[in-house]
Amino acid sequence: MTVLGIETSCDETAAAVVRSGREVLASVVFSQVPLHQPYGGVVPEIASRSHIEKLPGVIREALAGAHFGWTEIDAVAVTYGPGLASSLLVGLSAAKGLAWSLGKPLIGINHVEAHIHSVFLTPEAPDPAEVLPLLALVVSGGHSALVHIAPDRSCRVLGQTLDDAAGEAFDKAAKLLGLGYPGGPVLEQAARRATGAGAGVVFPQGRISPGNPALGGLQADLCFSFSGLKTALMTHLKRHPMAGDTDRDELAAAYQEAIVGALAARCDRALGGGGFRALAVGGGVSLNGALRARLADVAARHRVPLLLPLPRYCGDNAAMIAALAANGGGVRGAAAFALDATPSLRLGG
Ligand code: KG4
Ligand code: ZN
Repeated sequence: MTVLGIETSCDETAAAVVRSGREVLASVVFSQVPLHQPYGGVVPEIASRSHIEKLPGVIREALAGAHFGWTEIDAVAVTYGPGLASSLLVGLSAAKGLAWSLGKPLIGINHVEAHIHSVFLTPEAPDPAEVLPLLALVVSGGHSALVHIAPDRSCRVLGQTLDDAAGEAFDKAAKLLGLGYPGGPVLEQAARRATGAGAGVVFPQGRISPGNPALGGLQADLCFSFSGLKTALMTHLKRHPMAGDTDRDELAAAYQEAIVGALAARCDRALGGGGFRALAVGGGVSLNGALRARLADVAARHRVPLLLPLPRYCGDNAAMIAALAANGGGVRGAAAFALDATPSLRLGG
């Protein structure tokens, strides 16, 4: 089965052609980062207008790269949530029109579930069936969740952020530290330059009280909270204004450590419950070297493999959308054509 995937949930316009759920024949991603850079964050109207402008060319480029004609694909898969409503609508409308006019099946995909699936887009990756049940950590600019994937491939959220996503925490701190946008990569670079001279600064890992009503039945020690961390950095900067690049690098390292420590502790706790055959990590923040190293330790301690996406499939892309569809995921049949863009689409729902 060869699937054309389309992804426009946030600020990347992407299309891909994937064969047999694993073999990426073409993956094209047009990043809007330079368009949003002057504003320090994604501006929804700019994002959707750019999707409208770029998507037709991006789809054509993916098909040409795969040497496929329009009629040779077997299905069209598209993200229908979660994400920005006006961005999702562009991809979903395009996919519906394409599938309808080509007479091909349409498959509606959950973006967060697709991020988990990105770990299988490498030749060395195991077959999904060999590593279920799987613990997956999805960490991006919009999501932070710890997910249980059962042998029947159903997803259950074990924990999630109660406020900011991990990537958002990186982005906000980078802004406060004057490092630029998007914050994750620049903050990581600054943290790498730190020498440890500022080892005295320790930021909180965001403990959550079990009585917190926002938990909605989830276990407190499997959930995340990053908004207090940003406030702690703000307060620190007010009390101790930065004296130069060295201060900035030390603060970046301490801040990154708080995020990485919190994410690793939740994975450690969940794996401690037993029964998992692997730990998978997906989303833009999974590019972070400190996080990868810490999670490798956690996985080794629990004697499970750590599955990581190739760097090009960590951020938003359409290969993961097509792959999940080819592997049986998503909403199909007439129900797919009835889908609406669903900005707060949940996993397993
Ligand atoms: O998955 P993604 O491309 O888009 C969303 O679905 O949100 O993730 C983007 C997020 C941004 O917040 C960005 O700052 C973060 O991933 N990110 C990183 C790194 N590279 C990207 N965070 C930490 N370290 C990185 N190296
Ligand atoms: Zn994403």
